[in-house]
Amino acid sequence: MGMLDVEAIRRDFPILGKKVHGKPLIYFDNAATSQKPRQVIEAVENFYRSQNANIGRSLHELAVTATEAYEEARKIVSAFIGALPEELVFTKNATESINLAAYSLLASGLLPRGSEIVVTRMEHHSNLLPWQQVARLAGASLKVVEVDDEGRLLLDDLERKVTDKARVVAFTHVSNVTGVVNPVEEVCRVAHEHGALCLVDGAQSVPHLPVDVRRIEADFLAFSGHKMLGPMGIGGLFIRRELAERLEPPFPGGGAISLVDCSETSCTAEWLAPPHRFEAGTPNVAGAVGLAAAVEYLSRVGMERVELHERRLTEKALKVLEELGVIVYGPKDLRDRAGVVSFNVPGLTPHEVAQLLDMEGIAVRSGHHCALPLVKRLGAPMGTVRASFYLYNTVEEVEAFGLALEKIVKLAST
Ligand SMILES: Cc1ncc(COP(=O)(O)O)c(C=O)c1O
Repeated sequence: MGMLDVEAIRRDFPILGKKVHGKPLIYFDNAATSQKPRQVIEAVENFYRSQNANIGRSLHELAVTATEAYEEARKIVSAFIGALPEELVFTKNATESINLAAYSLLASGLLPRGSEIVVTRMEHHSNLLPWQQVARLAGASLKVVEVDDEGRLLLDDLERKVTDKARVVAFTHVSNVTGVVNPVEEVCRVAHEHGALCLVDGAQSVPHLPVDVRRIEADFLAFSGHKMLGPMGIGGLFIRRELAERLEPPFPGGGAISLVDCSETSCTAEWLAPPHRFEAGTPNVAGAVGLAAAVEYLSRVGMERVELHERRLTEKALKVLEELGVIVYGPKDLRDRAGVVSFNVPGLTPHEVAQLLDMEGIAVRSGHHCALPLVKRLGAPMGTVRASFYLYNTVEEVEAFGLALEKIVKLAST
């Protein structure tokens, strides 16, 4: 497998030519959102310039073109994760995808009173709070699987906590704080052994490594378009076909039904087949078209190559951080982690470090990363500084980051 031609890739991303505080932008905040190549920007613009109409309703030429563009996007994006088109519901982001999964199970009576929902301590709030709320509404309870000191999932605790009462095990593929890559196939196997469904939060994995829903045997997989070169406001929820057919849509409305009839006091509806029953109302068609362009871009580069490139950058970053003697969170073993590196500089708060890096043109995130239970467990209640990489980042950028941080570490120790 050849290496990435990073310089050619960078030329596709207009924003990477920008200067920040007079310095060339080094964008290491990819776990929050990625930058967009011109192919995606042009696909969105082209939709609005020449194809815009509402979909699935009118019979005129433009409406047919727009509907076809939307359904073509569904084919491209579903194939990217190894799913069938009818198994992919377009949503606005991973958060909405997880809420849709949780509320569909609730609306379908699949979370009986006394049942259990299992999550882990390393979840993003978006994969905790919907389950907490749904558990309360259903009279079910929540169980939290613990992690070790490096933030790795404790598999023996998982085995203990997933019992025959479990109906769902919802967990992240890759941690947005430590970069820990979970053994997804094994976690789904444990869930299935107990008759529970398995929801994988792929917000940090689908953009960065090859993900195949069949290999994982996931029942649900949630992801966001904006973290994988796509536009904001579009995401996806994979729902396994046989499961989707059994689910009631929790947010029904126009475009989701084949038949509605009302008496004087009530209405009945017949749902369309999945995925349309889960997509009531006018969807983000331009977003779906843009996401398809993003997926085509990533597929052309090759996800194995993207993963390998990020691993090289992570290896370099970990070496730089170790030499500077700062506190690094997450596993030391590179095989257990993706391109996310969290650290703290003793004597400075995460926000202070992020602001000082910003003055050097380096964009990182600081704080709790919407994962408070995890940062507390890692002994960093104020949060961490997080550098996260993508296909357009370079080893030279990591070196520049190292030099900038060296100045900051010196400043902190004087
Ligand atoms: C692991 C994980 N899950 C879910 C989300 C939520 O994604 P979004 O804000 O796009 O809904 C994020 C975003 O950072 C994340 O990192």
